[in-house]
Amino acid sequence: KLNGAQAGKTRDIIKKMDESDKNMIIFYGSQTGTAEDYASRLAKEGAARFGLKTMVADLEEYDFDNLDVFPQDKVIVFVLATYGEGEPTDNAVEFYEFFMNEEPAFSEGGDPESKPLQNLKYIAFGLGNNTYEHYNSMVRRVDASLTKLGAKRIGTAGEGDDGAGTMEEDFLAWKEPMWTALAEDFGLEEREAVYEPVFAVKEREDLSIEDDTVYLGEPNKNHLEGKSKGPYNAHNPFIAPISKSKELFTVKDRNCLHMEIDLTGSNLSYTTGDHIAVWPTNAGKEVDRFINTLGLAGKRHSVIDVTGLDSTAKVPFPTPTTYDAIVRYHMEICAPVSRQFVASLAPFAPTPAAKELMTTLGGDKDQFQETISSQYLNIAQVLEKMAPGEIWSNVPFSMMIEGLNRIQPRYYSISSSSLVQPKLVSVTAVVESVRVPGGANVLKGVTTNYLLALKQKQGGDPEPDPHGLTYSINGPRNKYDGIHVPVHIRSSNFRLPSDPSKPVIMIGPGTGVAPFRGFVQERAALAAKGEKVGKTLLFFGCRKQAEDFLYQDEWKEYAAKLGDSFSLITAFSREGSEKVYVQHRLSEHAKEVNALLAQGAYFYVCGDAAHMAREVNSTLGKIIASERGLTETQGEDIVKRLRSSNLYQEDVWS
Ligand code: 2AM
Repeated sequence: KLNGAQAGKTRDIIKKMDESDKNMIIFYGSQTGTAEDYASRLAKEGAARFGLKTMVADLEEYDFDNLDVFPQDKVIVFVLATYGEGEPTDNAVEFYEFFMNEEPAFSEGGDPESKPLQNLKYIAFGLGNNTYEHYNSMVRRVDASLTKLGAKRIGTAGEGDDGAGTMEEDFLAWKEPMWTALAEDFGLEEREAVYEPVFAVKEREDLSIEDDTVYLGEPNKNHLEGKSKGPYNAHNPFIAPISKSKELFTVKDRNCLHMEIDLTGSNLSYTTGDHIAVWPTNAGKEVDRFINTLGLAGKRHSVIDVTGLDSTAKVPFPTPTTYDAIVRYHMEICAPVSRQFVASLAPFAPTPAAKELMTTLGGDKDQFQETISSQYLNIAQVLEKMAPGEIWSNVPFSMMIEGLNRIQPRYYSISSSSLVQPKLVSVTAVVESVRVPGGANVLKGVTTNYLLALKQKQGGDPEPDPHGLTYSINGPRNKYDGIHVPVHIRSSNFRLPSDPSKPVIMIGPGTGVAPFRGFVQERAALAAKGEKVGKTLLFFGCRKQAEDFLYQDEWKEYAAKLGDSFSLITAFSREGSEKVYVQHRLSEHAKEVNALLAQGAYFYVCGDAAHMAREVNSTLGKIIASERGLTETQGEDIVKRLRSSNLYQEDVWS
């Protein structure tokens, strides 16, 4: 999105398609980049297999009021992710609100009874997660609205499920019959797919990395020119100093970081319960692997221009730049690889054996799962495995730009109170490092390991890189002194009651405790100011008291300010012969929990969505049922009502 949204660009879809001679426009509503990736894959496939003239577009950049006069010989595709609690992604908010209106205001202002969209043909695919309550609600609601307005859908409204881990296969299974239906409707002939690059890469021999017009990781022009200014948002991060960082675990083999990020000097502000977005840098080891495997080592620091070969193709990073900077700062090189991408790389394999193997894997779901997915290999590891010791210099760089996601900021629940420290945001994050079962591969979280490296550099650690990773910290120009991290703030709906005398019940095992540290900090500060603060009940769980009990000493300070109104109830899961979890403790405190709810308590859950949050939800239903002499179904209904009245709030992740 870095080059998008330039001033003076049309917001008229029809005009844009006419000007650029397109007959298929694929919109994405994307938060983490997957929907955007699927959109561009559909665009490529439509062009390669059916000769369609396709373009990809960001929902945020167009208006939808003239869809009632959208030409019948063109088709519109919506690839829509559902975010959080059934919300649209940030870039889809306006689009969503337009269609959720009872009577969307179309240009011709037709009578809604007369089906204003009866000429519109569309295709829809949704990305969701079944562990969330509002599974795929975005595509379901938009599809229902379009149908009601008279539009004709081609194929089914697809639904991909990240919760079941079948997103990619759901997508592949949905799109084949969709293409068949589309080809039939539009009278298209399928042809032998031919790869046509979307981007051209040109070496700039007149420039070197010493030139200050060359981007070496700077996200945009203001940053390049060193006069970065707000507003800071998902397109423009603030380069924030890290004022303090420390380790929260006492065990050697696992890390949990506490970092204080300083927003002073920016106009950024936050509210307790918000999220902070961290813009990561890829690990040096993985950058090297990628560069070497693709045969780019000799020219990694050569200056290049990357341009779209078509007026609608947006280059997802600023140029002129270098291969090294693109790979290090802009490409998601460590993500799992899709079966379709592996198949599309087969023609460029360095050996006939690799080509055959990749074609086979591309067509065989089970074999692909066994060989690639279950090992969590990233793209360079896949290429290494397909042709050991070979260099993949035939792969057009454009394929990598098209096939890999642009690197996305990662969101963390802020663990401080904005009342107590308005310009200092704290983050509490476990550093992810997981050995893949049965394999040699160790999976490392891109962003948390990057933060760990920053912490170690800040601490002047003589051995700053225990994981054998090196990061080019803050860019090769090192323009920023000290230790900095690019960030922006994302507001959430996770909020303390505006009346502090209301009781709160918080469930936060592991780093799920993050926002609750902020909540408790805030209520302690209010109590210290003499405000009446209601019961503040926190359930925290971890493995062992002596190992991973987060903020163990701090809770005592807050308790001193809050007095009896604060209780911390712990569940140490690995201290006895049986697992003890927060939901078990919740059951033990059924009476108190029920009494607090009767007084209008707010109930909060933060942490793992797949298991913990679900189990807490059902435990609460059971508590209510047994304490109030109701059936379990009645108990569950009360929990549902608490949710819809915002008295039960979740900040969960999977
Ligand atoms: P475990 O790893 O010993 O199973 C923070 O990660 C804490 O949450 C750990 O004590 C972990 O226990 C626990 N945990 C794991 N699964 C859970 C679940 N389904 N519900 C609640 N807590 C869980």
